[in-house]
Amino acid sequence: MTVDLIIRNASIIDGTGAPSFPGDVEIDGGRISAVGNAGSPARAEIDARGLTLAPGFIDVHTHDDGAFIRHPGMSFKLAQGVTTCVCGNCGFSAIPAERGVDPGLASGGILSGATGDFEDLEGYFDAVLAKRPSINSIMLVGHNTVRTTVMGMEERAPTANELTLMRGHVAKAMEQGACGFSTGLIYRPGRWSKTNEVIELARAAAPFNGLYATHMRNEGDRLLEAVDETLLIGRETGLHTHISHHKSAGKRNWGKVGQSLEKVDRARAQGQRVTLDVYPYTAGSGRMIEYFNLNAIDRDYAGLMRIANCPAFREFEGRMLIDIARERGHDIADLVRMILTAPDGDRTICIHFIIDEADIETNLRYPGMMIGSDGIPDLRGKPHPRLFGTFPRILGEYVRSRGVIGLEDAVARMTSISADTFGLKERGRVTQGFHADLVLFDPGTVKDTATYDDPKQHPDGITLVIVNGEIAFRNGAYTNAGSGKTLRYRRESYRGR
Ligand code: ZN
Ligand code: CU
Repeated sequence: MTVDLIIRNASIIDGTGAPSFPGDVEIDGGRISAVGNAGSPARAEIDARGLTLAPGFIDVHTHDDGAFIRHPGMSFKLAQGVTTCVCGNCGFSAIPAERGVDPGLASGGILSGATGDFEDLEGYFDAVLAKRPSINSIMLVGHNTVRTTVMGMEERAPTANELTLMRGHVAKAMEQGACGFSTGLIYRPGRWSKTNEVIELARAAAPFNGLYATHMRNEGDRLLEAVDETLLIGRETGLHTHISHHKSAGKRNWGKVGQSLEKVDRARAQGQRVTLDVYPYTAGSGRMIEYFNLNAIDRDYAGLMRIANCPAFREFEGRMLIDIARERGHDIADLVRMILTAPDGDRTICIHFIIDEADIETNLRYPGMMIGSDGIPDLRGKPHPRLFGTFPRILGEYVRSRGVIGLEDAVARMTSISADTFGLKERGRVTQGFHADLVLFDPGTVKDTATYDDPKQHPDGITLVIVNGEIAFRNGAYTNAGSGKTLRYRRESYRGR
C-alpha cells in the first residue's frame, strides 16, 4: 500500500507525557497510519533530521470565533504549531446570533470579525468551512452572548421565560456539537447574573456531559470567593469545570494562585472534575471599558495600562496611557474618559500589567495545567503578543531556558490533556488511527519573538505543521491547504469537514 506521506527520522513526542523516541510517522487519508519504522512506499517523504514531531498544539482558550471568518489562514496560530482552537471563551461566542442583535453588544472588540449569515452553530460551521480554514475549531457557547441575545444589556435577573429561552440556546448549541458552556462573570452582562442563573444555564449542557468553562467573577481581591462560586457551580451541575487563564491580578493579590490551587485540589480529592489553563505572560488584555467605572476612574490601574486596539484613536495603539497623558498634559483619568466615551470607544482593547511572574511558574508547575493563549485576534493595532507567541514561549522560555517543566510534560498540556478535556475525538496524540494534526519543531531553538512593542512576529523553530494530513505550513511558508475542520464535542467533525 502506498501512503500519502512519511515523516522520517523524527524524535517523536506522542503527547501522552511519555519520553520521546526516534521513529517515522506514516500518514494516509488524513490520519496517522503507522508510528515506528515506516515500511510503506509513500507519495511524499519528509526527512525530519532528528527534529521533534509532536501532536499539533491545541489552544484551549481563544477568541478566534471571528478570526476563522476574517483570517481563515490563521497564520498567527499556524506558525506556532497550533492546529486546533477552542473558541467561545469568557462567555463570548459567535453564536447564537440573531438578526437585529448587534453581535458586538456584549463582546465589543473581543470577537472581532464574528459576523456573517448564521444564527446557530451549524450555520457558523458552514460560514467557517466556506472560508476553507487552515486549522480546526471547536466552540463553547457563551453566557454573555446568550444573555444579550435574549435580554439585551439589562442589569437584572431573567424572568422565567427568559431563562427558558436562554437554556434553549445553550441546549441547541450543545446538540450541534459545542463542547460546553462558558461564562465571563467579570464582564457585562454576565456580572449582573447571580450564581443560580449560571447553574440553571450550565445544566443545559449536562445531558451532553459538556464542560463548564469560566472566566471567574473576580481574579483579584476576591479571587478565592470566585473559586468557591466556580466549584459550587460545578458541584450543583455535575459538570467538568474548567477555570480559564488562572491568575491573581494586582500586586496586593500576587501569590494567591497557590491558595486557589489548594481549593481545586480539595475539590478534586472529593471527586470533582476540575481543570485549568494559563497563558505565559504577566499582562492581561481585554475590553478596556470593563475595567473602569467612569465615575471613579482608578488612576493607579490606568497607570499599568497600554492600548492594543483603539478605533477612535489609532495613534494611541501600542502606547502606555501614562506616556500619552504626559505628552498631552492630560490627567490620566480624563484620558481614560476621553477614550472610552469617543465613538466606538467601547471597542477599545487594552493590555494591563497585573500578573506576577512567580505566579505563572506556580501555575505551570501544577500538574495538568493546560495552555491557552487568550489572544484577541484584532490585527489592526498592537495586539497582546500572546496571540503570536504563547506556545513557542512555553517551549523556549519555560521549558528550555528556565526548566520550569519538562518538554514532554509541556507538550502533553498542549495536546492530549487538552484534547481529552475539550472532547476532541481522536486528536492530541501521535498514535495509529488518530487524525494527523502534527507539528515538527526544534526544541533547541524554538522561541517566541512577539513583543509588546512589536507583537505581530512569528516565532522561530517551528518547521512544519500538518492539519488533517495536509501540509499547512513549512519552513515559514503557508500552503493555504485549507484542511481545517469544524469539530464537534466527542463526535465526528461537522459533515466530516
Ligand atoms: Zn477571560
Ligand atoms: Cu478570554
